[in-house]
Amino acid sequence: MTGPLKLLRTSTFRLAALYLILFAVSVAALLGYVYWNTAVLLQEQTDYTIQAEVQALSDQYQLRGINGILDTVRRRSTDDTGAVYLLAAPAGQRIAGNLDDLPVMPKGDANWIEFPLGVQNGATRENHVARAFFTDLPGGFKLIVGRDVEPLRQFATIIRRTIYYALAIALVLGLGGGLLMSRNFLRRVDAITEASRTIMAGNMSGRMPVAGSNDELDRLALALNEMLDQIESLMGAMKEVSSNVAHDLKTPLTRIKARVEAALRSGSETEYRAALENTVDESDRLLDTFNALLSIARAEAGQARGGLSAVDVSELIADVAELYEPMAEEEGGTLVASAAPGLHVLGDRQLLAQALTNLLDNALKYGARDGETPQITVSGALEDDKVVITVADHGPGIPAEDRGRVTDRFVRLDESRTKPGNGLGLSLVWGVMKLHKGALVLEDNAPGLKASLVLPIRTPA
Ligand SMILES: Nc1ncnc2c1ncn2[C@@H]1O[C@H](COP(=O)(O)OP(=O)(O)O)[C@@H](O)[C@H]1O
Ligand SMILES: [Mg+2]
Repeated sequence: MTGPLKLLRTSTFRLAALYLILFAVSVAALLGYVYWNTAVLLQEQTDYTIQAEVQALSDQYQLRGINGILDTVRRRSTDDTGAVYLLAAPAGQRIAGNLDDLPVMPKGDANWIEFPLGVQNGATRENHVARAFFTDLPGGFKLIVGRDVEPLRQFATIIRRTIYYALAIALVLGLGGGLLMSRNFLRRVDAITEASRTIMAGNMSGRMPVAGSNDELDRLALALNEMLDQIESLMGAMKEVSSNVAHDLKTPLTRIKARVEAALRSGSETEYRAALENTVDESDRLLDTFNALLSIARAEAGQARGGLSAVDVSELIADVAELYEPMAEEEGGTLVASAAPGLHVLGDRQLLAQALTNLLDNALKYGARDGETPQITVSGALEDDKVVITVADHGPGIPAEDRGRVTDRFVRLDESRTKPGNGLGLSLVWGVMKLHKGALVLEDNAPGLKASLVLPIRTPA
């Protein structure tokens, strides 16, 4: 498409053109109204005056005959008012009036005539136009009464010219403005198009140009840039996850392979059996890892397994705590659960239970210093408009500088490596919180870890 054509096809230009037409129509209507009210009405007024005068003269003629109006016509002819008169004999010779002779009459019986009029203005003679009413008086006399309408015509001309100029100016300004606006618009759209091409070509760090005027194009560019930021960070995360996954799956697979090879070399039946059992265990763990990864991916993608519904958090805490109490007691510890009644959130019950389970799991695994037994508390409370579920223990806790990264996939702190686990527990909790528009808050329980699930309270529908 060629340049100017492209300009004409922008929505800005079309909008400008539409407004231009509307504007021109209203300007024309307004000026037309002014024209009508001045020029046309003035002319009507003149015609009306002339007709009244003719009527008066005819009446006078009826009453007093030709001599009756002769005086009047003579007297009025000398006034310098722009009025024209002619009283002529039946044959056409002038009897009285300030017209030299009968003007050329139009054919037919039209009474209104317009004719050129020479007017002496100081030393110069000007050509004006006169408008007059022509009557045949009974007895054959002819009477012409009229006015010099030159000033009126000039006035009308000025108004007409003003209308044309105003329309022309409106058109030029509107058209020019429209073109200018569309060109500016087009330039910026082109810049955005160009930017998206480079990004598509693989330059993921590229961004849409923002003019800084905060107009709709800027807002669009900003929104696109935010989207690109998001995509970039997701892609980064994805890369990291895949390399982590690859790494984390490689280790158990290598272990399985080594074990099986050793068993094969030994040739002993019991070794075979042991290797197979070990393979089953490792496979189970691999499956767990895969399942956890899938759950995280689903939660982060915003897919609730059972759909979001009202979840009674108080009940949920009681249920999960009941399950974990025996495990804590088995290790000689305690688990104390307390929750305010009637706490509700909008969520996926299964995923929320999984998140709470993961926290309790960690508290059981890491929540006691060497030689001590786990003392765990689970609580549910309403804080402002948030429902907060807290799991607290008295173990070593997580150092402040590590609290940010333990929620990343596969991250396990060094001192935890001796315990079973895949480093995905907190990642799933984090994903579930994201799905619920909530947050996972890790704090120091002095000593120990205080992990809180902060969820928006369900507003009654
Ligand atoms: N209650 C806790 N006390 C101390 N450290 C913890 C606690 N919970 C989690 N952590 C640390 O965070 C890491 C990540 O936890 P998680 O994602 O659940 O993985 P996993 O439990 O499989 O190790 C753990 O390996 C551990 O180092
Ligand atoms: Mg865990």
